[in-house]
Amino acid sequence: MSANPNDKIVHTYDDIQEEDNHLPNWWLFILFSTIVFGFGYWLVFHTTKSLPDPRTEYNAEVDALKKARLAANPMSDEAILAAAQDPAQVEEGKKVFASTCVSCHLADGQGLVGPNLTDKFWIHGNKPTDIAKSVTEGYADKGMPPWGQILGPEKVRKVSAYVMTLKNKNVPGKEPQGVELE
Ligand code: HEC
Repeated sequence: MSANPNDKIVHTYDDIQEEDNHLPNWWLFILFSTIVFGFGYWLVFHTTKSLPDPRTEYNAEVDALKKARLAANPMSDEAILAAAQDPAQVEEGKKVFASTCVSCHLADGQGLVGPNLTDKFWIHGNKPTDIAKSVTEGYADKGMPPWGQILGPEKVRKVSAYVMTLKNKNVPGKEPQGVELE
């Protein structure tokens, strides 16, 4: 019997003829390749864990990048914020504050000669780098000495980190000065 093209037609409905053809080989190749790849991936990354999975690698890279940035610029917003979240550095900052700053800002930072550091009002900005700048350069004409030379960058960072922890504690003290900031 000669091959009749109509042999392939398995279903006709409303003049639409449905054939039962083989899936093309290229299509099957992609299908089976993805299955093999998926199985290999599952085996390597999830079952034997013989290679670190991408998420672990990504987190390690982000951590390394953060450390490199901190090392490159110990006075950045990031570096000071990181210090403000590290109890050991905050504690050292507190000691610097107690020995160097309380005479003018008082023990809880509520202000006397210098402004209240616990309210929402700031004359020179309240970003970590603003505070580090105030501490480093001071405002000699207004009675705030420059501490950069005396303390050095390490202590300036730690005392700035400590000041960050005083922010918005709203200890009653010297009246608000400057502009209200978040
Ligand atoms: C001799 C007094 C004195 C000492 C000591 C002192 N300050 Fe000040 N501080 C001031 C005065 C006065 C101002 C306000 C400057 C102005 O009006 O511009 C000020 C301002 C500041 C500001 C900016 C506040 C704002 O509203 O923007 C910060 C932050 C600050 N001091 C932190 C410190 C830290 C930290 C220390 C210790 C390392 C310190 N100060 C030591 C007198 C002092």
